[in-house]
Amino acid sequence: MLSQNHLHVSLLYIVLLTGTKYGCGGGGCGACTVMVSKYDQLNNRVLHYTVNACLQPICTLHGAAVVTVEGIGSTKTKLHPVQERIAKAHGSQCGFCTPGMVMSMYTLLRNKPHPTMEDIREALGGNLCRCTGYRPIIDGFKTFCDVSNAFNLFPQASCLIQKELFHMDNVLPLDPSQDLIFPPELMIMGKKRACGSLCFQGDRLKLISPVDLTNLLELKTEYPEAPVVVGNTTIGPNMQVKGVHHPLTIYLFVIYLLCVHVHAGVSMGAVCTLSSLKEEMERAVREMEAERTRGYQALLQTLQCLAGKQIRNMATIGGNILSANPKYDLNSVLAALDCTLQVMSKENGTRAITLNEELFTGFGKTALRPDEVLLSIDIPYSKPWEFVSAFRQAQRREFAFSIVNAGMKVLFREGTNIVESLNIYYGGVGPTLVKVGRTCQKLVGRSWGEDLLADACRLLEEEVELSDSAHGGKVEYRKTLTTSFFFKFYMQVLQELRERVHIQDSALKPFKNEVPQGHHSFQLVSNAQSSQDPVGHPMMHQAAFHQATGEAQYYDDIPAVQGELFVFMVTSTRAHAKIINIDPSEALGMTGVVTFLSAGDVPGQNRRMLFNNPEELFAEEEVSCVGQIIGAVVAESREQARRAAQMVKVTYQDLLPVFFTIEEAIQHQSFFDPKRKLERGDVDKAFETVDQILEDEIYLGGQEHFYMETQGLIAVPKGENGELELFVASQHSAYTQEVVGITLGIDSNKITCHVRRLGGAFGGKVMKIASLSAITATAAVKTGRPVRCVLERGDDMLITSGRHPFLGKYKVGYNNDGTIMAADITYYSNGGCTLNESLAIMEKALLHMDNGYKIPNLRGRGLVCKTYLPSYTAFRGFGGPQGLMVMESVLHEVAVKCGLPPQKVREINMYREEECYTHHKQLFSPRDMLRCWDECLDKAGYHDRLQAIQQFNTSNRWKKRGISAVPMKFGGVCSDGAALVNIYKDGSVLVAHGGTEMGQGINTKALQIASRILKVPMSSIHIKETCTGNVPNAAPSAASFGTDAVGMAVKDACEKLMRRLKPFMENHPKYTWQQWTVITAMARFTALILGTSRSQVGYPNAVTVWVSRGPHTDMDWENSEGPAYYYFTFGACCSEVEIDCLTGDHKNLRTDIVMDVGRSLNPALDIGQIEGGFVQGIGLYTIEELQFSLEGVLMTRGPSQYKIPALCDVPPQFNVHLLANAQNPHAIYRSKGIGEPPVFLASTIFFAIKEAVAAARRERGLGDSFPLSSPATAERIRMACEDQFTEMAPSPKKGTFKPWSINI
Ligand SMILES: Cc1cc2nc3c(=O)[nH]c(=O)nc-3n(C[C@H](O)[C@H](O)[C@H](O)COP(=O)(O)OP(=O)(O)OC[C@H]3O[C@@H](n4cnc5c(N)ncnc54)[C@H](O)[C@@H]3O)c2cc1C
Ligand code: FES
Ligand code: FES
Repeated sequence: MLSQNHLHVSLLYIVLLTGTKYGCGGGGCGACTVMVSKYDQLNNRVLHYTVNACLQPICTLHGAAVVTVEGIGSTKTKLHPVQERIAKAHGSQCGFCTPGMVMSMYTLLRNKPHPTMEDIREALGGNLCRCTGYRPIIDGFKTFCDVSNAFNLFPQASCLIQKELFHMDNVLPLDPSQDLIFPPELMIMGKKRACGSLCFQGDRLKLISPVDLTNLLELKTEYPEAPVVVGNTTIGPNMQVKGVHHPLTIYLFVIYLLCVHVHAGVSMGAVCTLSSLKEEMERAVREMEAERTRGYQALLQTLQCLAGKQIRNMATIGGNILSANPKYDLNSVLAALDCTLQVMSKENGTRAITLNEELFTGFGKTALRPDEVLLSIDIPYSKPWEFVSAFRQAQRREFAFSIVNAGMKVLFREGTNIVESLNIYYGGVGPTLVKVGRTCQKLVGRSWGEDLLADACRLLEEEVELSDSAHGGKVEYRKTLTTSFFFKFYMQVLQELRERVHIQDSALKPFKNEVPQGHHSFQLVSNAQSSQDPVGHPMMHQAAFHQATGEAQYYDDIPAVQGELFVFMVTSTRAHAKIINIDPSEALGMTGVVTFLSAGDVPGQNRRMLFNNPEELFAEEEVSCVGQIIGAVVAESREQARRAAQMVKVTYQDLLPVFFTIEEAIQHQSFFDPKRKLERGDVDKAFETVDQILEDEIYLGGQEHFYMETQGLIAVPKGENGELELFVASQHSAYTQEVVGITLGIDSNKITCHVRRLGGAFGGKVMKIASLSAITATAAVKTGRPVRCVLERGDDMLITSGRHPFLGKYKVGYNNDGTIMAADITYYSNGGCTLNESLAIMEKALLHMDNGYKIPNLRGRGLVCKTYLPSYTAFRGFGGPQGLMVMESVLHEVAVKCGLPPQKVREINMYREEECYTHHKQLFSPRDMLRCWDECLDKAGYHDRLQAIQQFNTSNRWKKRGISAVPMKFGGVCSDGAALVNIYKDGSVLVAHGGTEMGQGINTKALQIASRILKVPMSSIHIKETCTGNVPNAAPSAASFGTDAVGMAVKDACEKLMRRLKPFMENHPKYTWQQWTVITAMARFTALILGTSRSQVGYPNAVTVWVSRGPHTDMDWENSEGPAYYYFTFGACCSEVEIDCLTGDHKNLRTDIVMDVGRSLNPALDIGQIEGGFVQGIGLYTIEELQFSLEGVLMTRGPSQYKIPALCDVPPQFNVHLLANAQNPHAIYRSKGIGEPPVFLASTIFFAIKEAVAAARRERGLGDSFPLSSPATAERIRMACEDQFTEMAPSPKKGTFKPWSINI
């Protein structure tokens, strides 16, 4: 019976294989990548290709072999070299993306044992990682390339500094003969082929696979409404994510219908995958004369960026065309090429249709009759004197739907530049494919010159109609792209006409995606350190092998307990409304539904408290945002719960006011209390004496955590004494335990929270997970059965919210030499509907507003806006990235106004004296910040490159480069840590601590510390999980202090144990560790018998609550003073970018970071945090954009709409150096917490973009000073590079139209 549509749930869960991860359910993350092998009868070969398991219905795999990560290697038998190398190269942090990465690489090696770097880049293009920043993954995988010594790029430089993060000694060689063979029985089956039609029947779905074409046509006649599913990459996400239901689908097996003919062009079978289309085009371009394949080259250009490898392996050319989605890329190019479709039906036989705008009758609709199927697509050769180009611009260069795409073809009268025919098609500027027929017609007969260009742009402007309220928004940008693309086409053709073999204008070349590589350096441990002591060495993440083999367990990998139920949240669809009625009756009548919960079902308090700020678990009387939890449906399965939740009817009465943006909150004076202020000096007086005053503002958008593992838990009632166990994805298990206890009205001692690991968290799994846990626990108690809660990606994004959007309004007084004398900054954050952690986040923004600059008169005010949006929460950096960014904007703008290089103004204003005071009067020394800065500029070759950039900008009209560097001072807090260390008689050691392993490597560092003190190898020490039963009342793992706190506690506990063991060691100096532990245990046993006090004998078990003993930290907000931080982490970063002024695309070229992490406990983990944090910052400042509707509904709810950085966004040169000889007396072994600070360093990319845009503007005589909000998306970059094309798309007047989305 098919109750599910997924391979993932139906195959992997049934056989308890958990290595294949579920990150999004829509093909957008690659966590579920598996390898499918099929026999290709046409070519008598076995094909191996990757697919996204979440989109591959299991029954479509008839006759195919599926290899998951478990199939290729295991820690119990033997690792596969791919698994070993990603682990050893530190390419696995939280590990949730790792199996998908492994399978993409494994499949590549199955097809090509000696890949190139480009092959690796292509293979991983469809896999996202939110932790590592991709560089270490590439480092591990590039060792399979044929580049000599590819893995040993950076030999040792000196005896002080080490440059290798991992060694290739003793790694397993790749031996393809050891790979799994294609099952012979499937080969026999594939060769026979005549297996008849297949029919799979489920409770809600039926899927038929026809035996041949006749059978297909019959089925299509009988069931005209049934979609023909091939790759399932349009139908699948529609069914899975959007809830579209097709009771019957007709599935076509790809391989035996695959056909490629060559006649007057290439004819591709409709069921050819996009990968095979790409191969075919590549072959044609390789083998045929260039003139005939111009169209194919254009198609290839598009195919290179279209989706990821897995999707291209599944998606078909026919499906792409007939999905009739204007954001899909192929139709505009194929239409421009005058392609013909061959369609067929039982009744009317075959007919040919031209692929043009008339084929598409509406969004998702075509002119094909319901009983017709598409057989093939004829793609003609190009003619002599014909020129073709394809364009696309997306939010992210790769693996993202295009915002606008275009196909353009011009045919000239032979030997002339007179246009004989012109085809221009656009996708993304309307609900269907748009042909600009009038423009094309009017240009026929004209010469290809400046007049034509001017007229074309004017005609395009008239013909491309896009209402100001058009779906998708970005209207002016989209209009600008239509003319900019044409301009590119014009230039390309012009250059070819002038017979310039080499295209010289850089604007015409799209950016090339590259794989990141980097130089690293870190300080070697001292010669005096024992060789057995792992502290300070780049040790591999302790669970990396398990993560790479899929053996690592996350909460949703725990097998279903007998009788387990599933809970699904019912959320508000209104932003501000009174709840009149909740009617779950229809849902309760549905199959499998067990119960419905709402506020009245909570046995204890329906409130989660934080610092006296209550937040309802279930909304009681009113809702104050879309996405607020109102109720929950509990059912036997996920699907049943999900479907039933949609049937719960909530009646609302809308309330006023309702608003979402910071601007509106300011108008309504809607702020949470308290408001914060910090002031040093006399700001107002200083304004009176400065040379210049500047007033401006900068807006920074929010950010979604997008941890790869969504939030959830399993609550298991134990039956006795009301005990309850929770297996929960929480960064703060003690808080979860507390909230669950208060909700249920039971004591914490009956609730045990277990956290083995998290698939990423970044601050997002502290607060909301406690509410989800309380709701799930309520369901478990009410039903008396275990209950599982796993948020779907879209619901996770809707319910849990993320980083606060900020608006910084500033007034700055400065002298003409760039010295800033006074700054008055007001920070507004969008806090959403409850205060949550917003106040603490605002405080952090204010405390960081001085960054590394000594501004003598500085005032900061912080106001948290109360709006009708989901409550914003903690996110890596906790207000720091916003607070710092506003100050850097001030510095940047002052530099622009003074006509000085921004780096100079930064230097002029930096703290310099050995003893400095922050604006909150905390004493510190900026010495290491200045060292980082100098070293960074030096290593980056800043000054030389600045000159080179100026030269580049002078000789390139449409591409510009920019470079920027920032210093950083980031406050480090500390908390109390707790640890329990047990030593067993066999000598093995068990460490438990209160921290949470979420990829940052806290367990690895804890093991290193324990190993140092106990002097036993790390392999003899084990960390099982974080458990409130072992270590109570632990602090969260957050704010970079996890290792500081836990590390100290582990050290303390181990030292206690060593003190107890010491007498035995001294008495028996020749004994081994195990013998000491045995005699200690025996002595205790004897002592017990003899009645001696245990403490006299010692006990090989120690619990430690390490209470932070560093400097006193406190903040007196009334008097604007206080030592807010234990210590400061310093750093500096320099980045260079290149922008395409015509499209707004940008490429990160190079980044150099020098970071002070004190004495690193583990340079590999620390560099991993720096790179990962930096790449998250790239997302924050340049790509990630949340879009809300006018009604306050989050519209970007999955990887298809919300883009986090992918491999293509990482600078190809990405160098990270740890500052040598750095110290920190206040944390474990003089190290520093490093999780949060690096995010801000990515602001260098933002400012480099701003520099590049300024260069473009200067050339056009425009001012250097211009607004640019963060993130600096392609849209914002393009519109800031004002030119004749942007002028054609002026912004409509505010209030004259209904925008599609709002900036909150
Ligand atoms: C994560 C992700 C990223 C993507 N990125 C891009 C991108 O960047 N650019 C882009 O262009 N596309 C992108 N796509 C879309 C993808 O290319 C299309 O979904 C795909 O080409 C559709 O092919 P399919 O075989 O999977 O279609 P299916 O989902 O199987 O079917 C789609 C539609 O076509 C019809 N159909 C298919 N074949 C036939 C036939 N032979 N006869 C009659 N009807 C037929 C079906 O009935 C159905 O209505 C992306 C998709 C995903 C999931
Ligand atoms: S879970 Fe399949 S691609 Fe994300
Ligand atoms: S290691 Fe890649 S998502 Fe965490």
